[in-house]
Amino acid sequence: MTNALVILAAGKGKRMNSDIPKVLHPIAQVPMLVHAMRAGAVLSPERTVIVTGHGAEAVARVAEAEDENASIAVQEEQLGTAHAVAQARAALDGFQGDVVVLYGDTPFLQPDTLQRMIEARTKNDLVILGFEAADPARYGRLVMDGDSLERIVEFKDATDEQRAITFCNSGLLACDAETLFSLIDAVGNDNASGEYYLTDVVEIARDKRLNVTAVACDEAQTLGVNSRADLAAADAVFQEQARSELLDLGVTLMAPDTVYLAADTVIGRDTVIEPNVVFGPGVTVESGATIRAFSHLEGCHVSRGSVVGPYTRLRPGAELAENTKIGNFVEIKNAEIAEGAKVNHLSYIGDASVGAATNIGAGTITCNYDGVMKHKTTIGENVFIGSNTMLVAPVTLGDGAMTATGTVVTKDVEPDALAVARAKQENKPGYARKLFEMLKAKKARRDKGA
Ligand code: UD1
Ligand code: MG
Repeated sequence: MTNALVILAAGKGKRMNSDIPKVLHPIAQVPMLVHAMRAGAVLSPERTVIVTGHGAEAVARVAEAEDENASIAVQEEQLGTAHAVAQARAALDGFQGDVVVLYGDTPFLQPDTLQRMIEARTKNDLVILGFEAADPARYGRLVMDGDSLERIVEFKDATDEQRAITFCNSGLLACDAETLFSLIDAVGNDNASGEYYLTDVVEIARDKRLNVTAVACDEAQTLGVNSRADLAAADAVFQEQARSELLDLGVTLMAPDTVYLAADTVIGRDTVIEPNVVFGPGVTVESGATIRAFSHLEGCHVSRGSVVGPYTRLRPGAELAENTKIGNFVEIKNAEIAEGAKVNHLSYIGDASVGAATNIGAGTITCNYDGVMKHKTTIGENVFIGSNTMLVAPVTLGDGAMTATGTVVTKDVEPDALAVARAKQENKPGYARKLFEMLKAKKARRDKGA
């Protein structure tokens, strides 16, 4: 059976109190919409339609970056969820098969839940995804008759008796495309909100003697985000799950609650993560590495056996080969650090490559930016960079080279050469004592005067 995905993402999300469209707020550093798209992708949909409205252009950009084949349908006015699905009609022109509707603000959907909905669809005309709500709050209530779903009543329109129902509507639905659009055509807006409710298709389908059922999943999967508090709670749920998955995979988290992960963080077995480490998007850490406390990593790759931190910042494009050592207060950006190289203290290595077994002394800076353009620093193998070396890029240091402490390197250094570029030291005998006496006398005169 072929499927198409329709993701509703037009709402403003008033309660987010934000200039950013709700579905672009991130959970574990990935926009909610992208979570929803990834969840839906398990169905290998033939078409994916994102219904946008508020912040349509920004939402479209994110959607297309995730899936270049996604179609964007714009809902100019947010007249309700049924009206939103209706906007996908043109993009689904000629499509035959099932349409699965999901919301851009429910990021925790599990693949098997969608599969179960598709399976239930083989025996029913319309399938709704429901859940037992611990606190049903303002969710739509599912009125069941045995295995059949009678109707969905929105909280605002529900009687006290209906409000007592705890089986709630997640918003997800699966239905044959042609049937769905014919049902939607019959939806009106005569209700407490004056909106075209997608939920009304249930009752309309029943009137047409179609089979309608609800599939249940656990509430965590249908968690909808409507406020910053919901966003924080959703992120916490994500973090909890991701941490326990890592623990199961054989990663040591010394203080799990203090490790913040991104949705795409990959960490290998027997790696140790010390407390208070933040993973931004795009991080891979191989097996047997150690990420020490208070480090911040994004868009980087840490190979087997490397030790990072404490207090290291790895920025996008940091590529650490095996058994490297990156120490405290070191920032690495867009740089390859080859096997066994060490950058142990207080350094900035940006737009650079560092050869195998090279040692970068404390306080080394690659001066990669001239105020207008970025330039590259190339450092060979077995190089020894003395402390407080400034490497003014573009510059190349050959294998086995050395720089004297405090050198400002502005010219290439050939292999095995020593670069020294600093003022010559001169010692003046007895001069320090004289200077101290002079200064003390000056201070005494000033104290007396005051
Ligand atoms: C909806 C359901 C409710 C369910 C709840 C689950 C309806 C009528 N109600 O209520 O039964 O329990 O979700 O979270 O469907 N959207 C558009 N265009 C619109 C309106 C909404 O794209 O014109 C999008 C929103 O961006 C959002 C989704 O549809 O992604 C749901 O809309 P929302 O306003 O959050 O519906 P709820 O009131 O939460
Ligand atoms: Mg909602």
